[in-house]
Amino acid sequence: MQVLEPLKYPTSKNMTFGLYPGPLLVLLCLFCSSEETCPAMCLCMSDTVSCSFSGLSKLPLSLPLFSVTLDLSHNNLSWLGWGSFNNMSRLENLQIAHNQLSKLRHGVFHNTTGIRHLDLSSNKLRVVEQHYFQGLWKLEELLLFNNKIVQVEAGTLSSLRSLKKVYFSLNQITHFPFFSIQDHSHPFLTMLDLSSNRMARLPWEDLKALPGLVQRGLYLHNNSLICDCSMYSVFWHWDLKGYGSLKDFRDEHTCSFNGDHRSSIRFLRHTRVFHNCTLDKTISQPLTTLLSTVFVSEGDPVHLDCPTSLNGTDLSFTWLSPRKGYITQDSINDTLIHLFPNGTLEIQHVKVNDTGPYVCTAMDITQALNATWEVNVTVLLPEGESFNTGYTTLLGCLVTMVLVLIYLYLTPCRCSCCKQPKPPVIPIATYDPSTLASIFSYSTRDQPKIQTNKHVAFMEPMMSDEGNEWIPES
Ligand SMILES: *[C@@H]1O[C@H](CO)[C@@H](O)[C@H](O)[C@H]1NC(C)=O
Ligand SMILES: *[C@@H]1O[C@H](CO)[C@@H](O)[C@H](O)[C@H]1NC(C)=O
Ligand SMILES: *[C@@H]1O[C@H](CO)[C@@H](O)[C@H](O)[C@H]1NC(C)=O
Ligand SMILES: *[C@@H]1O[C@H](CO)[C@@H](O)[C@H](O)[C@H]1NC(C)=O
Ligand SMILES: *[C@@H]1O[C@H](CO)[C@@H](O)[C@H](O)[C@H]1NC(C)=O
Ligand SMILES: *[C@@H]1O[C@H](CO)[C@@H](O)[C@H](O)[C@H]1NC(C)=O
Ligand SMILES: *[C@@H]1O[C@H](CO)[C@@H](O)[C@H](O)[C@H]1NC(C)=O
Ligand SMILES: *[C@@H]1O[C@H](CO)[C@@H](O)[C@H](O)[C@H]1NC(C)=O
Repeated sequence: MQVLEPLKYPTSKNMTFGLYPGPLLVLLCLFCSSEETCPAMCLCMSDTVSCSFSGLSKLPLSLPLFSVTLDLSHNNLSWLGWGSFNNMSRLENLQIAHNQLSKLRHGVFHNTTGIRHLDLSSNKLRVVEQHYFQGLWKLEELLLFNNKIVQVEAGTLSSLRSLKKVYFSLNQITHFPFFSIQDHSHPFLTMLDLSSNRMARLPWEDLKALPGLVQRGLYLHNNSLICDCSMYSVFWHWDLKGYGSLKDFRDEHTCSFNGDHRSSIRFLRHTRVFHNCTLDKTISQPLTTLLSTVFVSEGDPVHLDCPTSLNGTDLSFTWLSPRKGYITQDSINDTLIHLFPNGTLEIQHVKVNDTGPYVCTAMDITQALNATWEVNVTVLLPEGESFNTGYTTLLGCLVTMVLVLIYLYLTPCRCSCCKQPKPPVIPIATYDPSTLASIFSYSTRDQPKIQTNKHVAFMEPMMSDEGNEWIPES
């Protein structure tokens, strides 16, 4: 008899069952707990099958075909053959972390093109071959950290257009095919974690050509970088742009001279070493476009600050406004608008048609650097009218309350029969080591590194809850 257990990987479909209990649930539970579809060592519930910590050295003979989530982590799998998950056409989340896989055969993921989340971390993979993930065009998250990867073949990621996050950290990669990631090849990629590998020299021109979003989410700390000016120049720019990867792992960005680890320095701290480098300070696009939103009532004054990551002493500011066009310190011909030397723009009496985007450009003339800042200004109607809308809202509330009361008293059904089971609590994937532990089901014992550290850059380990329709996509 299979036991229904709280899910390790609740998906949004379970939510659906939570909301429509009763016959459907009973039917499904009968169906999924039947002996013939659920292998003896696994736990099955609705669309989730968990065979973790089962000592498996090969796949169970008949895996339930309806699974959306299949957890095979913490086993001894060393081999997966062609079409291992054939006919599991609904499969979206596949966890094979903590196994002994050193290689994937051709066609392992044949007929499982719906996979969105694939976890192969903590295995023994050595070469990520071009064919490994072929056809997984819906794949969003690929976890390959803590393997023995020395090489990633050039075409590996090419066809994976839906990729959002890829984790390669804690491997032995010396070269990575950055050139295979181009502007339009991976439009959703925002995280490429290559930290804690063995890359000494990077193809800096390829890195500079990466799409902006990928550069912003590129993690390269704790590699064996060799100190030189071209390296420093790239990191210097990223640092100026305020990328989180550099902020969060400042001290883990090290480089050494001539590959001698004893000469390793934290190059984001000890910048004196690079004093003689001529940094290529021309940047094609503005440094940062940060956004904020301001709400203000018509007739009120508004101050729009222009915070900037530039820290030169000789900054000049320009605002582009929806109604007045460019505003510079010299060009203002309006007593109601003032631009302070620190970049703050003051408008004395805003009008409704002052609503819109305001873009500030801070220019550091001596360093030839620009940074931009965008503020969305929304001018609200004057007090009187919002008071009116307040009244309407209040009235609406009262009407709703009356309707609710009528409903409660006139409905024949007693509350006991309307009681609904609480929907299962979906863990929110934040970067908290303890949630991480439960989601990936690491035991503290065998993964102390990943448990405690911020050195692996994954932040949101589980899938998001999109694509939750019950009907399988064909
Ligand atoms: C598996 O793929 C083959 C083609 O390679 C296709 O004909 C077949 O219908 C697929 N089966 C399922 C269940 O998707
Ligand atoms: C740096 O990477 C090595 C492996 O290359 C790993 O053993 C070590 O724990 C990492 N250190 C940090 C601080 O992440
Ligand atoms: C920088 O250049 C000066 C000469 O221009 C030289 O004396 C100095 O040693 C150099 N510093 C480094 C760190 O290379
Ligand atoms: C300022 O505006 C007035 C009319 O609005 C115009 O006559 C005057 O030439 C303007 N001055 C400058 C410096 O643009
Ligand atoms: C800029 O200067 C103006 C006037 O001195 C001041 O009101 C404003 O708060 C300053 N803005 C910032 C961001 O310091
Ligand atoms: C903005 O609104 C004011 C009146 O509120 C009007 O005089 C002015 O012409 C409007 N400006 C634009 C650009 O629409
Ligand atoms: C900075 O902005 C100014 C004005 O928008 C422009 O003329 C200049 O070329 C920009 N400089 C750089 C380095 O982008
Ligand atoms: C700014 O406001 C406009 C219109 O109100 C809106 O379409 C746009 O999405 C806003 N941008 C941001 C970043 O909030």
